[in-house]
Amino acid sequence: MSGFETEWLTLREPADKAARAQALIDKLSRYLQAMPAPAIVDIGCGTGSTWRCLKGHVPEGTSWLLLDHDPLLLEQAENTIGGEAAVAFSQFDLNHLEQLPLEGVSVVTASALFDLVSEDFCVAFSDRIVAQGCGLYAALNYDGIIRWTHRHPLDDDMVEAFNRHQKTDKGFGTALGPGASPCLHLLLEDGGYQVDVMKSPWLLDGKDAALQKAFLSGFRRPLLEMSMHGEAEIEDWLAFRMAAIAAPESRCEIGHTDLIALPV
Ligand SMILES: C[S@@+](CC[C@H](N)C(=O)[O-])C[C@H]1O[C@@H](n2cnc3c(N)ncnc32)[C@H](O)[C@@H]1O
Repeated sequence: MSGFETEWLTLREPADKAARAQALIDKLSRYLQAMPAPAIVDIGCGTGSTWRCLKGHVPEGTSWLLLDHDPLLLEQAENTIGGEAAVAFSQFDLNHLEQLPLEGVSVVTASALFDLVSEDFCVAFSDRIVAQGCGLYAALNYDGIIRWTHRHPLDDDMVEAFNRHQKTDKGFGTALGPGASPCLHLLLEDGGYQVDVMKSPWLLDGKDAALQKAFLSGFRRPLLEMSMHGEAEIEDWLAFRMAAIAAPESRCEIGHTDLIALPV
């Protein structure tokens, strides 16, 4: 089990789809059009969000391999996508990067994954894809920016504590959190790739109340662990933020970046 619930991934998928940088999807699409046998490996696939987003943008006949270590998420992906031609699924722990099947792969895709991984992981991963000449499309890497229109005096403290928690071990050693995208950028440029990065923030309002509430609920444990503020202040802040979701003109921005890196 990864700790990521199907319900959470389902809730965030529409916001993710709206946030993804279309220009990078178009670039991926053009790159794959030029491939004789386009093949994608989607790592940390969850229930298949990246496949659903990209399927209309990749050449017909593109082969897909969806990998995740969580059997429940993989089963959910297989139940919803399994009838599609040229899509395969496999349980795979990314901690065994040396076994990542990259033979004949045009591009590795991922979404909402790289902020969980460590610098060592990024180094080993970049080495592998550069050695194989595979491209990378890594979407929705959390970048550390969270802004609300309806401000509370403790917002900055709470976001800073949340971001410190983002850098704790998420199963790959000390996580890069918001540092993931810059790290991949440098490594893959050093590897001779052309790298493009664009912002892909969630821009949420009252229509996204369920997602905002679930996101804020996910703050409680990190804040209890990391914040200099006590439990009562944390609960007061959470109560303020929850109530503010329904306030007139209330909006929230949660920052991400998308990155595409292609061999030149
Ligand atoms: C935030 S979810 C994103 C899922 C999906 N890409 C999406 O955008 O909905 C992170 C995914 O990484 C997977 N994951 C975490 N650690 C992993 C590991 N060691 N090996 C393979 N997958 C892993 C989780 O199971 C989860 O599906």
